[in-house]
Amino acid sequence: MLDVLPPESARWIDVVSRFALRAERFGYGLLLTPIVEHYEVFARVVRPEGTAPVVRAFVQHRPPTPWKVWYLAPNFRAEQPQAGRYRQHWQLGAEVIGIDDPDVDVELIELLWGFCRDLGLSDVSLLVNSMGDAETRSRYRDVLLEYWRAHESLLGAEMERAEANPLRILDSKRSDWLDMLERAPQLGEYLTDESAAHFARVQEGLQALGIPFEIAPRLVRGFDYYTSTVFELTSEALDAAQNAIGGGGRYDRLAQEMGGPAAPSIGFGTGIERLLLACDAEGVLPVPAARVDAFVVDLVGVGVADTARLLAELRESGLAADRAYGGRSPKRQFAQADRSGARWAVIIGADEALRGMVAVKDLRSEQPQCEVHREEIAAWLLTRKDEATS
Ligand code: HAM
Repeated sequence: MLDVLPPESARWIDVVSRFALRAERFGYGLLLTPIVEHYEVFARVVRPEGTAPVVRAFVQHRPPTPWKVWYLAPNFRAEQPQAGRYRQHWQLGAEVIGIDDPDVDVELIELLWGFCRDLGLSDVSLLVNSMGDAETRSRYRDVLLEYWRAHESLLGAEMERAEANPLRILDSKRSDWLDMLERAPQLGEYLTDESAAHFARVQEGLQALGIPFEIAPRLVRGFDYYTSTVFELTSEALDAAQNAIGGGGRYDRLAQEMGGPAAPSIGFGTGIERLLLACDAEGVLPVPAARVDAFVVDLVGVGVADTARLLAELRESGLAADRAYGGRSPKRQFAQADRSGARWAVIIGADEALRGMVAVKDLRSEQPQCEVHREEIAAWLLTRKDEATS
């Protein structure tokens, strides 16, 4: 589990706010669910993912459909920790509950794809597949199990896993199985006409939007609830073992299984830690520069009123402003101003104060300090800040 400290955490603000902006633009509202759920929602573990709570909330509150929501939440998985795989990870996700239109599948992929673009990621691949309906999958499961049994010697101890869930063997990355996996029967061959038409429409939609994708016949994804469309976004800049930065799919029966009405649904989750690793690998979304605009340096030190009022005024006007505490000497106040990364030091000096002025020093240039009317300082700084950012 990770601690995220400033200034690195400023990137989290960036990631979350970009996602929020985009999701709201697509018509998704934020859904907050409790960190704990009824035992049955997760059965054995603490919250491993974000979809089950969304469906639980849907079944409980019965909002009008299609219900479009997004979320931000920590998840917990008892897996072997390694680079990019943690016991606690954070996901941003979006779900659409109560409609089986393939155009919604496309919208969600577009949302995730566009979000990665917002972050500056470009070395990203989209994999899509269809897992068909329940009938298709159960037929396919039998065929696949028969195939695994024919390869029992190569599967060895994993045969037990193959018996329990034949599909899970398909997305293994073991190099000695490559040949066996490539020759395995493919689910796509068993799709019903209806599933095939749905999947074709998803592909058409992606093409229409110019979103490049690859059909990955062995992509089956890890949760039992998936049906029909599944997809995954991988970062080519990351190690192949942990390169999934997002994934999702349809779960057309989950609401019913959780005691609700029939509500075909689809969604995705994207791991913030993984996204940031991908950003690091591509050299995008650097830790943002310090956000402090002005640092108030008090050379007079007579009372609280001047500094406190000036600081409050700057902050209320929309500037990021800070100061030193603890009665520091001017030298140490200036040192702290430098460390803060502030653009300006606003100096309260005795002489200036008598004339109703403050001194301003641009900490990023060698220019001598100047004087500004105390009443005008906030507006003066704001104008210069706007000039610098425009
Ligand atoms: P998932 O593929 O298990 O899907 O997780 C989504 C994303 O969370 C992954 O692509 C990865 O970026 C990140 N992630 C997962 N596990 C870890 C971990 N241990 N450490 C770091 N990052 C991790 C789901 O959870 C589904 N709920 C997605 C979904 C939504 N399907 C339908 N709706």
